Amino acid sequence: MGGAAHNRGARRGAFRTVLPAPRSALHRSALCGRRAVRYLVPVPTIEFLNGAHAALKTIEAPDGGELVDLCDLHFAPVPFSCRSASCGTCQVEVVEGAALLEPPGDSERELLELLAGPPEARLACQARVRAGAGRVRVKPLGT
Ligand code: FES
Repeated sequence: MGGAAHNRGARRGAFRTVLPAPRSALHRSALCGRRAVRYLVPVPTIEFLNGAHAALKTIEAPDGGELVDLCDLHFAPVPFSCRSASCGTCQVEVVEGAALLEPPGDSERELLELLAGPPEARLACQARVRAGAGRVRVKPLGT
């Protein structure tokens, strides 16, 4: 039964296995036994696209976070220059999963208006990924 639930969830997105945090010494010893329970937790996945659909790289962001930090950590194929919403080098088009990103701030919104890119454009140096299940697909636009 647990396997069926695991397989059903695996088709929807990425999961990570986590052990529950021990609540007491007794609980800790119980978790060390053979009957320790593992939970499957859905995590946000970010795909970096090359062209329309081919994924250059796919990363997982279990706790969400700043997209620029995630790109640096995983060597994602997004170019950066100023990292402060000034140049537009890191502009990406969010093809899917825009709701998994925090809304743009004033400085990001102002530069995106000047760049006149696609309506779903974001600056990778300013965007923040929310924690939670889902998939974000982005296509780098700047060069
Ligand atoms: S790196 Fe310059 S706007 Fe993001």
